[in-house]
Amino acid sequence: MKSTQEQLKLKFQQALAEAFGTDYAEVDPILVSASNPKFGDYQANVSLSLTKQLKQQPRVIAQQIVDKLDVADICKPPEIAGPGFINLKLKTEYLEAQLSNIQTDPRLGVAPTKNPKRVIVDYPSPNIAKEMHVGHLRPAVIGDCLSRILEFVGHDVLRISHVGDWGTPFGMLIAFLEEAYPQALTTTENLDLGDLSSFYRQAKKRFDADEEFKKAAHQAVVNLQAGDEKTLLAWKIVCQLSSRAYEVIYQLMGISPNIIERGESFYNALLPEVLEELDKLGLLVENQGAQCVFLEGFTNREGEPLPLIVQKKDGGYNYATTDLAAIRYRVHVDKAQRVIYPVDAGQSNHFAQVFQVGKKAGWITDDVEFVHAPFGLVLGEDGQKLKTRSGEAVRLQDLLDGAIAHAQADLEARLKQEGREETPEFIHHVAQVIGISAIKYADLSQNRTSNYVFSYDKMLALKGNTAPYMLYAYVRTQGISREGKINFEQLGADAEILLREETELTLAKHLLQLDEVISEVEQDLLPNRLCEYLYQLSDKFNKFYENCPVLKSEEPVRTSRLVLCDLTARTLKLGLSLLGIRVLERM
Ligand code: ARG
Repeated sequence: MKSTQEQLKLKFQQALAEAFGTDYAEVDPILVSASNPKFGDYQANVSLSLTKQLKQQPRVIAQQIVDKLDVADICKPPEIAGPGFINLKLKTEYLEAQLSNIQTDPRLGVAPTKNPKRVIVDYPSPNIAKEMHVGHLRPAVIGDCLSRILEFVGHDVLRISHVGDWGTPFGMLIAFLEEAYPQALTTTENLDLGDLSSFYRQAKKRFDADEEFKKAAHQAVVNLQAGDEKTLLAWKIVCQLSSRAYEVIYQLMGISPNIIERGESFYNALLPEVLEELDKLGLLVENQGAQCVFLEGFTNREGEPLPLIVQKKDGGYNYATTDLAAIRYRVHVDKAQRVIYPVDAGQSNHFAQVFQVGKKAGWITDDVEFVHAPFGLVLGEDGQKLKTRSGEAVRLQDLLDGAIAHAQADLEARLKQEGREETPEFIHHVAQVIGISAIKYADLSQNRTSNYVFSYDKMLALKGNTAPYMLYAYVRTQGISREGKINFEQLGADAEILLREETELTLAKHLLQLDEVISEVEQDLLPNRLCEYLYQLSDKFNKFYENCPVLKSEEPVRTSRLVLCDLTARTLKLGLSLLGIRVLERM
């Protein structure tokens, strides 16, 4: 099924070609949803963009388009407004027919892309040997959501976690373990990641204070890079321990388990080739003993061009070199056509720099898109970066457990108030779904690029743009089917849809816009648009439900309204699943 916007676009392009010649057959009609429903449902702004080219007034252009525009089966007669906008109002019969079409479609009218690509999403990429902390919340939640959406659209998505598993920190850790806990390097049985994190902190202290220890740590890195068996085994143990701990968190969060762990170490053997290739291309410049690539658009305070160091004076490679190797590998071996990095905004320069070098080296061509999808910080209620009382980053596990505990307390209070009895299993399950959903939704519903304040009270509120509100809207739709003993699935493809009331029309139009929202998120990678869409959907559904009796109305209106309830429920369920949120039948 073609979306309304797509159908209208084709109609406009026909009209443009007829009015101004075939050169205009591909012009973008610049169709947008109308900002005010009073003026219509869509607005085409193309006349304003063509004034220079056609040397005519926009209203005159608009009139010529409208004269040729054949949209009678979709819209009421188009109207020209303001400086030359073309306003379109959808016909009720058209809306009814479109709803009937999506009623039998499990994808609810969202056609799979005609241009499927291989897409890599680089997330959540924590650093090994440290527990995941609040800083890993956003890449996990956003990366998972974007992957789900792109996969649903029909792309071939590879989730790759670029874990930090190489370099000085491991030398430090291994040297510390060799010295203090040699038994830890032979078996993981009595260790968990919590221990490892504490070893890591102790190792860091020693490293900063003790020259001898520093030397031992550097030696361990050298041994590791040289492939020394004992050191390699110790490193593997550390990696395994970390991966196992991450999996537990991913599972609790409901993050897709299909994440490929391909850490920095993976690229180690490829780094010399990267340098060689940069050298062959004449891009390498020696600067104070280090090998560098000079960048355009990055200057120091004196206005001189800044170099990107790709090999340090001591011969070692760095974070940037590894990312260059990853870029090259992702293009040449993975054959990726789009690579997305949901990584904190603090790394914007890093990505701009390695992408620039990737382009200079010819790895990133016009056929492949590399995008950094930056996100802001998670703040505490004091407006500062979220920290524990002792000033450390909050453990991700604690954050999640906290949300579940808060959700459970809220739920128990609500049950008491309503005089409801539920089993401990029910309470546990509902609290877990609400707690995790609330964290995810609070994160995704903000514009990704802004910072946001982490507040259990706000994210768990039953009213407002929150997960519980959305889950509750879904529960309400399921309540209707329970109360009327109606199996939504058996409503039948032939059920007639009748849109008589204003609130029905408003809901219907919104239901038909899911494809437009998803295609926006596919392009601009902003999940908050989907959240906003679902929030509006719940709101429009509530207004419809307040105004239009469903179970008590007469046929054929009753069935038609039941279909609206069913479509709302399915749209909520699908939309939330794309955010990584499960629905509840009761809560
Ligand atoms: N491990 C890095 C960190 O914790 C994030 C890696 C992001 N991905 C990448 N390809 N650089 O900051």
